[in-house]
Amino acid sequence: MKRVFSGVQPSGELHIGNYLGAIRQFVQLQDQADCFFCVVNLHAVTVPQDPAVLRQKTLEVATLYLAVGIDPLKATVFVQSEVPAHAELAWMLQCLTYYGELSRMTQFKDKSIGKQNFSVGLFTYPTLMAADILLYQTDIVPVGQDQKQHLELARDLAQRFNQRYGPILRVPEPMIGEVGAKIMALDDPGKKMSKSADNINNRINLMDDAKTVQKKIARAVTDSGNEVRYDPEYKPGVSNLMSIYSTFSGESVATIASRYTGQGYGAFKGDLAELINRELGVIQKRYQELKASGTVEEILSQGATKARQVAEETLQQVKEKMGFIV
Ligand code: TYM
Repeated sequence: MKRVFSGVQPSGELHIGNYLGAIRQFVQLQDQADCFFCVVNLHAVTVPQDPAVLRQKTLEVATLYLAVGIDPLKATVFVQSEVPAHAELAWMLQCLTYYGELSRMTQFKDKSIGKQNFSVGLFTYPTLMAADILLYQTDIVPVGQDQKQHLELARDLAQRFNQRYGPILRVPEPMIGEVGAKIMALDDPGKKMSKSADNINNRINLMDDAKTVQKKIARAVTDSGNEVRYDPEYKPGVSNLMSIYSTFSGESVATIASRYTGQGYGAFKGDLAELINRELGVIQKRYQELKASGTVEEILSQGATKARQVAEETLQQVKEKMGFIV
């Protein structure tokens, strides 16, 4: 059975970009592979976090994992800080990583640009991400497009380690969807939808109520003209909305375009909001049930026990190969 690993940061509100780009794939994969889904709170503290909010968000992301349909009987769901091997392997990988490699990471450049001070953790973040993946001898990593460069580093580090010390670490493959892997911002289709954007109209959060979704879609930037046509270069706003429609409905953009021929943006946007609300409604209902059940912490605790066993096994092999006394 193939091994799958992926993670989501408990920072900000999860949005439909996270869902369509990554989390929705998790649910499908749990029936075909041995899956580990992690709430990566060590990654979240690369930028300042309020401790109480971080704790709450960590539980929220875990609850959302379960609410979208991840079944703890099929997949291992856990919190990163509960497995110390992540931080340990990250250090060892840092010592294999070149300064130049991390300097070229576009996400680091985007997040640090114009800031006077940012943490060293923000810089070394991709090595922690590599550790997350490599500890579980992962075959497949379902992620959105923005994580591709980080995945390439994880692959390079696995290969480098194996060449230097012997074949211990499995080289992972990214799994990046054809549609949905890069959902753009609703207020600016030139930027990606993001948890950290200041404008709340940038995104649709998984916990947004139906009215909010309707409003945000109605306000979403479209392009001049009124033709519902997929053309990312000349019609980036409408094309982004069509990608969202297509990922939620499972229909091709061509089918969607022909349905709205001659109808303009209004009808299309109204139906899109309804489509999103139908799916989010189910998730939100399950979320509230899970929250009320009080079972999430126990699920996380069991997940961490299993994750620790698997991660420790790899860590011991790595330590031995590197010459640490084990
Ligand atoms: P994070 O928390 O920023 O995002 C979680 C997942 O959502 C995807 N995503 C998107 N997909 C489509 N369109 C968007 N606009 C969009 N925005 C975000 C991300 O690609 C990601 O798959 N570094 C990772 C977390 C991480 C991780 C890992 C992932 C840590 N360790 C190991 C995989 C394996 C991150 O910050 O994702």
